Amino acid sequence: MKKLITPNDIVLDIGAGSGLLSMLAAKAGAKHVYSIEASNAFATIAKKIIDTNGLGKQITIIKDMSTHVTVKDNKKRKRNKKGRNRKQGRTIPQKATVLVAELLGTLLNGESTLRYYQDARQRLLTKNAKIIPASGAQYAVLINSDMLHKITSSKSYHGLDLRYFNTFRDSVSLLFTKHYGVCMNTLNYKEMTEHITVYEADLYKDGPEVQPMNERGRIYTVTALEDGSVQAIVFFWTVWMDKEKQYKISTNPKDTIGNLPRNMNWGQAVQLVEDPAGWTHPEPKILHLRKGQKVDVKIISDGVSLRARVVRVYPQMSAKEPEEKKAEATATQVSTQPEATATQPEEKSQSRKARKSVDLTPTPSTNTIQNDINKLDIDDSSVKPSGAEPMTSESSQS
Ligand SMILES: C[S@@+](CC[C@H](N)C(=O)[O-])C[C@H]1O[C@@H](n2cnc3c(N)ncnc32)[C@H](O)[C@@H]1O
Repeated sequence: MKKLITPNDIVLDIGAGSGLLSMLAAKAGAKHVYSIEASNAFATIAKKIIDTNGLGKQITIIKDMSTHVTVKDNKKRKRNKKGRNRKQGRTIPQKATVLVAELLGTLLNGESTLRYYQDARQRLLTKNAKIIPASGAQYAVLINSDMLHKITSSKSYHGLDLRYFNTFRDSVSLLFTKHYGVCMNTLNYKEMTEHITVYEADLYKDGPEVQPMNERGRIYTVTALEDGSVQAIVFFWTVWMDKEKQYKISTNPKDTIGNLPRNMNWGQAVQLVEDPAGWTHPEPKILHLRKGQKVDVKIISDGVSLRARVVRVYPQMSAKEPEEKKAEATATQVSTQPEATATQPEEKSQSRKARKSVDLTPTPSTNTIQNDINKLDIDDSSVKPSGAEPMTSESSQS
């Protein structure tokens, strides 16, 4: 703000919250700050804090959604001789020359930043207004984590085989680490692929359309960096405050080590991943990758949230591989073609439910259960039979 705000600037803060950004803008020398806040409670509190800090004259709090606020139309006011500002709703007296806002969620667009910035640019800002933050990028990466595997899968307890419980392993829902009091960077994980740039947004011009909103989503092909299993996909973002990308904030777990406020305010989003070859089976199949092997990850946005699924695993070829292995790999590829497995996560969840009702309703014989358990392809090499930690519903489900 110190870099961009000048004494002639009229600043618009969308989502005043505590009023902090508005006060910083005022202190950076803005001529006036209009601070819009949709929540009555926050607007009242922000006003109190702003007055306490002696900045009440420089900052005006407007209680409303930014999308309802308009720029005062002076011509209309002149025509209305009774002085009624009919149907104008809440207004600001002129367009702002700077927009500053913190409307970021666990996902970059989790609080509809892209839509609110787009709307403000179109109606509430001057043509050359300065915008803070200036840009952002939503990233994702496939990870391996023994700890995550342990808390999201079942193996055994006191010699009792519980692996069939993995039927409930949820690879459809996107979870926010902060809701579970978990910091990704304490989970001891390894990045298994390069980062996926889900989308980039230039906040001077882009809107929600930069997200993978097409109903088929967007396919991202990534390469395994080493041999290993994949447990999840982790979403994090970076925003750059200025066009020159001198100042940034990142929620990459590696950038939030020891930063508990950032982890608990934004944190990361995590979705469990499975091998598409097991997609239609009731029990999930763990995805194993070899270094250099490629996978297609499909990511879909509903406009605010994101969902991901590995839809294709490319065969891993090496010069030494026997012909039969190649044939086997080709068969896997065919069975995991995106078209062949184009089931959406919801459909998949239903299909799994349907399978469950078929497979689980009759009381199966011990042999049937044992056969089913034998079929489970869970990489449990990291799960030591401890017997010391009772499984709770939390540790057996995501
Ligand atoms: C993450 S907080 C912002 C924190 C704030 N910048 C601060 O320094 O305390 C988001 C706030 O924006 C408000 N908000 C979100 N979208 C809004 C919109 N379009 N118009 C007005 N307020 C909005 C929410 O009610 C919430 O108080």
